Amino acid sequence: MKRAIIKSTARYLPANRVTNEDLTHMMDTTDEWIRQRTGIEARYWVPDGDDVGTSDLALEASRVALGRAGWAPSDPDLIVMATMTSDTYIPGAGAHLQDKLGGGYKPALDIRQQCTGFLHGLEVCDAYIRSGLVRKVLLVGADYQSRFMEKTTANRDTAVIFADGAGAVCIAAEETDAAVGILASVFHADGKHANALQVGIPARKSGYAMDPDMLANREYFPYMDGRTVFKMAVTRLPEVAGEVLAKAGLELADIDMVVPHQANLRINEAFRDRLKLPEEKIYNNIQEYGNTTSATIPIAMDELMEKKMLKPGDNVLFIGLGAGLTWGGVIYRLP
Ligand SMILES: CC(C)(COP(=O)(O)OP(=O)(O)OC[C@H]1O[C@@H](n2cnc3c(N)ncnc32)[C@H](O)[C@@H]1OP(=O)(O)O)[C@@H](O)C(=O)NCCC(=O)NCCS
Repeated sequence: MKRAIIKSTARYLPANRVTNEDLTHMMDTTDEWIRQRTGIEARYWVPDGDDVGTSDLALEASRVALGRAGWAPSDPDLIVMATMTSDTYIPGAGAHLQDKLGGGYKPALDIRQQCTGFLHGLEVCDAYIRSGLVRKVLLVGADYQSRFMEKTTANRDTAVIFADGAGAVCIAAEETDAAVGILASVFHADGKHANALQVGIPARKSGYAMDPDMLANREYFPYMDGRTVFKMAVTRLPEVAGEVLAKAGLELADIDMVVPHQANLRINEAFRDRLKLPEEKIYNNIQEYGNTTSATIPIAMDELMEKKMLKPGDNVLFIGLGAGLTWGGVIYRLP
């Protein structure tokens, strides 16, 4: 049976480390408020003036992941790029990444699924691999949020949370009778809450996208109803964890490590409390990176591999919720 196996991981963070203290010089906020509400202590933003886009962050992580897998840029049969902050609105960042990688005319599929983009990417790679359509995939989650945020008091709720970064994994098909690789995945969406976290323009359902009123309302910046997102996350994430465990035929006790999307440390602690998970079975790094959206899970995975915190046979549960609202979980067993 064909199984989707992660052959390598990599991460890339831009050079500019921005502390909570730095933010207090840009807006009316405090280190204490940010730490208490979100757990974040620092984040990385692309330095002002750097002429790069999301695909450049993705490229850095991709090159390292390819090198670690021993793959040439031409080896992947497919590039899957998860981001909500493409270099250009059209086309998506996948095409920009394909060009920069220089591996030939490989298909480049964009996943525009915000904070669950990388999770959906794992499911897409699994489906492509199991079907036999491809043997090698480069899956990248990258976001460049700092360009899309107003770093002022008016938008301080989002400006203190979101950050830049990229993570990449090389995934290969392996023929084996063992139950390893991506074991199960479950996803949901509830578009009723689409306006809980959204950027209004340049897309419009009617009227001219660059309408002066909309520009005056700053609809090109993210709007977030933090309380709704928070409430939905603490309800939906434990539910979907149960669903994906049942689908994989596993109990919570079989999980060696939970890697949640890094939206907010309080959300992840509420999840841990609800499931009564021991502290060492959940991995958080939002303290250092903030919320890098599509990149949080592959960055965390890369750190876990680097710190040798996972071993063959371990079951890892990835979960996340984000704009849409969309949420889901994936279980991966290390070969
Ligand atoms: C955003 C979030 C941290 C806000 O925390 P909260 O406890 O809900 O805070 P509120 O929005 O009710 O705001 C409380 C007060 O803090 C203020 N505030 C908001 N952002 C602030 C900041 N960065 N610094 C200081 N004060 C801030 C508000 O203006 C408000 O002031 P008021 O009481 O005078 O009106 C929280 O709702 C959250 O984490 N939600 C989930 C967000 C998320 O996960 N997003 C990513 C999804 S992928």
